[in-house]
Amino acid sequence: MSTNVRHVNHDLSPMRCPVSLEDVDLFADGSQEHWYEAYEILHRSEPVYRIEGGGISAGSDAFVLTRHDDVTTVVRDPSRFRVVSTMRVRELADRGLTPEEAYATTRNLMQASMVSLRPTQELYFQHRRELTDPWVGVGALRHREMITRHANELLDEWIDDDQVEFISRFARPLPQRVMADVLGFPRQDVTLLADWGDALVMPFVHGSGLKHELTSEQAHEMGRRLEGFQDYIYEHVVAKRADPQDDMISFLCDVTYDALGRKLTDIEIAGIVHAMVLGGLETTQYALEEQAQLLCEHPGMFEQLRIDRTKLRSFTEEALRLRAPTHGLSTRVTTRDEAFHGVLVPAGSLLHLRFAAANVDGDEFPCPFDLDLDRKGIGRHVTFSTGPRVCPGATLSRLEQQIAWGVLLDRLDSIDYGDGNDWMHQPGIMLGTLKLNIRVRKSSNPLSAGTGRSSIA
Ligand code: HEM
Repeated sequence: MSTNVRHVNHDLSPMRCPVSLEDVDLFADGSQEHWYEAYEILHRSEPVYRIEGGGISAGSDAFVLTRHDDVTTVVRDPSRFRVVSTMRVRELADRGLTPEEAYATTRNLMQASMVSLRPTQELYFQHRRELTDPWVGVGALRHREMITRHANELLDEWIDDDQVEFISRFARPLPQRVMADVLGFPRQDVTLLADWGDALVMPFVHGSGLKHELTSEQAHEMGRRLEGFQDYIYEHVVAKRADPQDDMISFLCDVTYDALGRKLTDIEIAGIVHAMVLGGLETTQYALEEQAQLLCEHPGMFEQLRIDRTKLRSFTEEALRLRAPTHGLSTRVTTRDEAFHGVLVPAGSLLHLRFAAANVDGDEFPCPFDLDLDRKGIGRHVTFSTGPRVCPGATLSRLEQQIAWGVLLDRLDSIDYGDGNDWMHQPGIMLGTLKLNIRVRKSSNPLSAGTGRSSIA
C-alpha cells in the first residue's frame, strides 16, 4: 500500500534522539537520523559549539557553527577565515614543489595540481572563471539537451513498473552519466567513473569525526580503489590532444590559462577532473533522492508542480535548503581571535560550518521546517555555501535537478512512497538514504513530450 508517511524504525539506529545538549553528538554513528533535532537544540542552547582538541594543530579546538549569520560571515571572508585546502596548497607551493612532487608527497591529485594553478585566493577566481565555469558554472546551460536525454532514457527503463528503487535507477546514474558526458568519457566507462567517484568520497561517507578521518586501512583501501584513475585520465588527455571533441577535457587540453599565459599540463588537467568527479556525483544524487521524499511527504505537491512549473525552481531550492546534501564541512581556520554570539574563538581554531543547520535557522527563515514555495529570498540557503568559494558546480547541479523533475513531472501522474523502505541514512557527513522505493503512476497524458522544457527557470 502506498503512503505519504515515513515510518522510520529508530530501533535500527545506534543512536537515540537527543533531547538536551548533553545528548548532542553530530558525528556519532547513527547521528544522521537525528541531525535536525540536534540543530534545534544547538540553535537554542549552543550555536557555537566547541569541540575540545578538535583543531588542526595540537591542543587547538574546533568550533561547530550552526547559525546562518555566522556561517555566511565566515565563508564571505577568506582572508580572515582561511580555507584549509588553500593553506595546504600554499604550504606545498612555498616548499617549491612541482605538482608531481606535491602528488608524491600528498597522494592528493586535486591539491597537488593546484600548486601551480591556484595557490592564492586571487588565482582561485581566475581558475574558476577560465577553467571550470565554462563547463559546470555559467556554461552549464549548454548541457540542457544532453541532461534531458539521459533523464528520459533512465525513466524509459521503469516508467511501466509499479514500483522503482529510485536511487539506483535514477538519482545515482543521472549525475554519473551527465558527468561522463561533460568530461568526454565514453558511455561504457560510466561504471568505472562511478567506482572512482565512490572511492573519492570515502572520507565523507566512511570518515570519522569532524575531520572525516579515515583509518590507515580505509585510506589504503581508498588508494587501491583509485588505482588506474590517473592513468585513465592521462589516456584521455593524450587522445583528446590528438583529436579534440566537444567536451571539458578537450577544452582543458587546448585552453591558454591567462593567469599563467600557458596551456595546462597533464597533471593540472587531471586535478580538475578529480575535483569534478569528487564534487559532481553523489551530491546531486542526494538532492534528487531527498526531493523525491519531500514530494512523497507533501500530498498534492507533485500535481501542483505538474500544473504550475513556475514553482519548480522554488521547490528545488526549498528542498536544497531543507535537506542539504552536504550537512557540514570543516574547511576554515580563524586567522585572529574572533567572537561568534559572544563566544571567543581563538586564532588558529578549526571551524566546522554546518550548512544544513544554518538553513533551518529560525532567525533567518521563518517557520524553517516548512516547505514553502512562496518563501521570500528562496535562494538564501547555504547548501552550496556562498561567497567567493561557493560551489563551482552549483549551476550544473541545479540544472540537473530542474530538468530531472521537469521530465518526471511531464511523464508521471504521481509518486508515493513504495513498500520496503526503512529510511535509514548512510553514514558520514552527507544526507542520503541507502535506498528509496517509490510507487509511480505513468501519465496517460504526458506533457511537453518529456522535454521538461516548461520547467527550466
Ligand atoms: C547538490 C549538489 C552539490 C552540493 C550540495 C555541493 C556543495 C558544495 C559545498 C558546500 C562546497 C564547499 C564550498 C565552500 O567551501 O565554501 C562545495 C565545493 C565544491 N564543489 Fe560542490 N556541491 C554540489 C554539486 C557539485 C557539482 C555538480 C560539482 C562539479 C561539477 C561540484 C564541485 C565542487 C568543487 C570542485 C568544490 C571545491 C571548490 C574549492 O576548491 O573551493 N559540486 N560544494
